Amino acid sequence: MKPQRVPPRRAHDGLIIKKTRSGLGLITRKPIRRKNFIIEYFGPYITNDEADKRFDRYLFEVNSYFTVDGKSRTNIARYINHSCRPNCEITIRDRRIFLYAKRAILAEEELTYDYGKDYFDEFIKPHGCRCEKCRFKRKDVQRVKKPRR
Ligand SMILES: C[S@@+](CC[C@H](N)C(=O)[O-])C[C@H]1O[C@@H](n2cnc3c(N)ncnc32)[C@H](O)[C@@H]1O
Ligand SMILES: [Zn+2]
Repeated sequence: MKPQRVPPRRAHDGLIIKKTRSGLGLITRKPIRRKNFIIEYFGPYITNDEADKRFDRYLFEVNSYFTVDGKSRTNIARYINHSCRPNCEITIRDRRIFLYAKRAILAEEELTYDYGKDYFDEFIKPHGCRCEKCRFKRKDVQRVKKPRR
């Protein structure tokens, strides 16, 4: 039997959706303290077998049986992009997905977490990761290849 859905936990104040280099992203208008709860990623549960049949960017596996289908636009956590040097981290508790600040986050910063290797290899790597860390890495490589005179 699929787990019962419960109302999501109230998100941190001041989160807004904004255009970023990686498509839409989630930005905080207010500073967030290290380790503070920020938002829950929520949606209906589907089985992992159902999830395996879909090619969908908003599926989040919570254990060996169930996946959360987070595609609803009311789930604004779905706009959080991946970073290889993220400022947030995910905790899964009782099949629910909670996002916490990994460090102190400044007002106007974009929220990011590490999507993990499987998602990264399937959806991010083929087009190139657009997170800050990878962008700077690419710039360094270009500088080595083409030194400015
Ligand atoms: C859960 S959605 C995040 C919100 C998405 N940017 C949007 O506009 O709806 C995940 C998708 O966003 C894009 N994305 C997220 N992080 C990225 C990154 N670091 N580099 C490139 N694309 C990224 C990829 O298309 C990925 O499949
Ligand atoms: Zn990256």
